[in-house]
Amino acid sequence: MTKRVSIHGQWSSRWAFILAATGSAVGLGNIWKFPYIAGENGGGAFVLVYLLCIVAIGVPTMMAEILLGRRGRQSPINTMQSLAAEAGRSPRWRALGWLGVLAGVLILSYYSVVAGWALAYIFRAGTGAFTGIDSAQAAALFESLTGDPQLLIAWHTTFMALTILIVSRGVRSGLESAVKVLMPVMLVLLLVLVGYALNSGAFQQGIRFMFSPNFAELTATGVLVAMGHAFFTLSLGMGAIMVYGSYLSRRASIARTTFTIAALDTLVAVLAGMAIFPIVFASGLQPGEGPGLVFLTLPISFGQMPWGAFFGTLFFILLAFAAWTSAISLLEPAVAWLVETVGWKRSTAALATGTLCWFVGLGTVFSFNVWSEPLIGERNLFGIIDFVTSNIMLPLGGLLIAVFAGWVLGRDASRDELALGDGRGYRAWRFFVRYVTPLAVGIVFLHVVGVLDLLARPA
Ligand code: TRP
Repeated sequence: MTKRVSIHGQWSSRWAFILAATGSAVGLGNIWKFPYIAGENGGGAFVLVYLLCIVAIGVPTMMAEILLGRRGRQSPINTMQSLAAEAGRSPRWRALGWLGVLAGVLILSYYSVVAGWALAYIFRAGTGAFTGIDSAQAAALFESLTGDPQLLIAWHTTFMALTILIVSRGVRSGLESAVKVLMPVMLVLLLVLVGYALNSGAFQQGIRFMFSPNFAELTATGVLVAMGHAFFTLSLGMGAIMVYGSYLSRRASIARTTFTIAALDTLVAVLAGMAIFPIVFASGLQPGEGPGLVFLTLPISFGQMPWGAFFGTLFFILLAFAAWTSAISLLEPAVAWLVETVGWKRSTAALATGTLCWFVGLGTVFSFNVWSEPLIGERNLFGIIDFVTSNIMLPLGGLLIAVFAGWVLGRDASRDELALGDGRGYRAWRFFVRYVTPLAVGIVFLHVVGVLDLLARPA
């Protein structure tokens, strides 16, 4: 029953998979989202919960997701259906695949809009728009972009077209080598920015904000957001890593691969925070500034450093690239299913799903200008889509993936797939997916009832 190779092809090596999966994991989530949600949720305690969730929930769930993908060798919808059938369970488990497809469409809809900001900032950096600016000028510059729906739509369209292009050609073509070169450059550039932050005069204050936990600052919503972000940043809970796993060779070690990806992803997020928070305090901004945080802080850094126009251009190119390698993984589960089951050509499938995401994305475009008024609590349409996908759909998907791998899939199957023998490593993994992930997600979800009250309460 289980196919040894996916009809969509296979990665050329374990490293190719690591690069692609790291490309998926490292993206706007690390550089744009992590700092601003850490800022909104009080810093240190939030960061601690986030790191804990990466280790205790993210790593075991990622192993589960890769394992299921490689065992099923199909799109997540069909993988779930056939693995469930093999285990003698209901084919309705395929609903998990559908949940993922829906989450992917919703996430990509706004992801593309924000990636469009990065594209716009490439040109702003290149033309020297940041030279010597202060925080008020950085804010005016940012608002001149977000306040202009036509401009936002133009960049959103550009980014979505680039995503459709790569997905049409197959996620493996050319991407491996690009990630291999660009990821290290990104790390170096982040180090340059941290080096700059070191001299900003508020480095210690920034670091204290990020790393010294004050639990009085952390609300129930904050815990949910931290957990949701652990799924988001590792690309878990919607089948992206599962579909990438379905292209992975039988010989690769899933455990080692997972640790590498999680470590790189966390490194990038922590470095981004260390580059951004000192600038927040040095230039009189607020950590809770919101989704514009990275676009307000880093231009100030680039505007003051030597070679700033060059470094700034390079940085936003890399940010757009990182977003690109993430965006394709959001589309891939839906495209793989359309190719497998409906029989469409890859290019048709990519165009259709990408266009759908583009339309939904208009809701986010207008959330920053004509529809910026809150709809529920303090959230506008963008805020609602982000909240529901990251904090409800992904953890729910992750929980079901963990339950499936721990309780539905036979012990022999998971032991065979992980190839860790029967030792402590395997038993620990099984304990985490059977008990820790479901319980942790369940407990945090119980707060959701309270959280939904908070959400509906006027700000
Ligand atoms: N992990 C990516 C980031 O941090 C975003 C992303 C890509 C993602 N694929 C995903 C999030 C799948 C959730 C699910 O930017």
